[in-house]
Amino acid sequence: MVSLSTRAQQIAEEFEVSDSKINELVQYFIQEAEECLAEKRERGLPMIPTFVTGVPDGTEKGTFLAVDLGGTNLRVCSVCLKGDSTFDLIQEKVAVPQSIMKGDSADFFGFMADRVGEFLEKHHGSESLYAKEQSSDALKTNPSTPNLYKLGFTFSFPVDQSALNRGKLMRWTKGFDIKDAVGKDVCAEFQSALNIRQLPVYVAALVNDTVGTLMARSYTKPSAGRTLIGCIFGTGTNGAYSEKISKIGKFDKDGHPEIVSKIMVINTEWGSFDNDVKHLPNTRFDVVLNTHTPNPNYHMFEKRVSGLYLGELLRLVLLELQGEKLIFNKPCADSSALYTPWSIDTSVPSLIDADKTSDLSETESIVLKVFGQETTLEQRQAIQLIAKAIGKRSARLSAVPLAGIIIKTKALTKFEGEIDIGADGSVVEFYPGFEKNIREAFRATPIGAEESRISIGIAKDGSGVGAALCALVAE
Ligand code: BGC
Repeated sequence: MVSLSTRAQQIAEEFEVSDSKINELVQYFIQEAEECLAEKRERGLPMIPTFVTGVPDGTEKGTFLAVDLGGTNLRVCSVCLKGDSTFDLIQEKVAVPQSIMKGDSADFFGFMADRVGEFLEKHHGSESLYAKEQSSDALKTNPSTPNLYKLGFTFSFPVDQSALNRGKLMRWTKGFDIKDAVGKDVCAEFQSALNIRQLPVYVAALVNDTVGTLMARSYTKPSAGRTLIGCIFGTGTNGAYSEKISKIGKFDKDGHPEIVSKIMVINTEWGSFDNDVKHLPNTRFDVVLNTHTPNPNYHMFEKRVSGLYLGELLRLVLLELQGEKLIFNKPCADSSALYTPWSIDTSVPSLIDADKTSDLSETESIVLKVFGQETTLEQRQAIQLIAKAIGKRSARLSAVPLAGIIIKTKALTKFEGEIDIGADGSVVEFYPGFEKNIREAFRATPIGAEESRISIGIAKDGSGVGAALCALVAE
């Protein structure tokens, strides 16, 4: 019978992404990105024009509201941009209940509008009541009514935008499943929920979190050079960058003659890269995972990379090893996390990966807590090997769209000095060695040694500050 360490080694190898695979994927990313800028493709990279036609330089000023629905939490903030690359921010955060994530559209937009109402009462008390009297009749028609708060709505799901504050939800990701919201204009729905509650708020801009990250990082002006990409590696993954409008073939320029010579921020929705899995690695664990998601056969890149999925991949591998009687000494109860899809948070593989104790005692207590199982050192080593393999594959794959955009835009030859990437999300921030593994993969691409000119900076509050900056674009 094959030993546990041999099996673990074999499985870890299935998660390896060779340098030549990275290059193949980068080439394919560039090809898909270009084809999908030229024309819309149902299963291709969305490459969504955002109607944001400039990035900030730090001198912007004003106070704006921002609502951020990213994954598991809803944040409501007010942001005061001070015009010197700094800002003040007040925020409230609540978890989005499962019943809302999978309920109906009216409850969902109502839930958000109620949180905005509470926020205004708490932080802008008398001011907001005054504004309410002044503006309730004018709300729907006149965004320039005095005392009407302009709101940037960070909505981190694929939306087919038709204006800065208009766009239809294409599909849900990250475990959300509110069926009657698909195809609806999310800004219009949110605005009408706010209006029903007579709140003095105008939804001025729809902002993807990656666009917000790009804007916020550009505003706060890192000492590094020009910010080329805003990206998220958290519950989900995605990136945004500035593209010449003349290169966006599918964008109806006739309707917008004033902006043809400008740039526009593109929300790539790279979670949907290679949905047909022509080039992405595809283990049997990936295949099973995909069938358990509410969006099967979409966001296939995201399902190999982002936080929502890494714990589930580990669970599926452990389930296989347990089925082969190689791991866990006593039977698991039917209700065990081992048998429960989506029960393992990314922090589990991430903390196991980070365990540097000689007897892997941290891994021991995590496995005991999560699966109720005592483990031998050999078992813990096997589990750590798998956790590391899953994390490393995620990081190396993450390098693919980043390298693709850097190469496609010729940023390293066009600009001098550093090329900056603003990033946010729990995976890039906390998964051990994530940036190091991205950089190693960069070196395998045509970027090569120029990798040292790329800075990757954590851009906090992208979705709050960035949304405020987009609401300001609306002025
Ligand atoms: C969504 C993107 C979002 C990303 C990161 C993905 O699932 O489709 O719109 O930017 O998650 O939050």
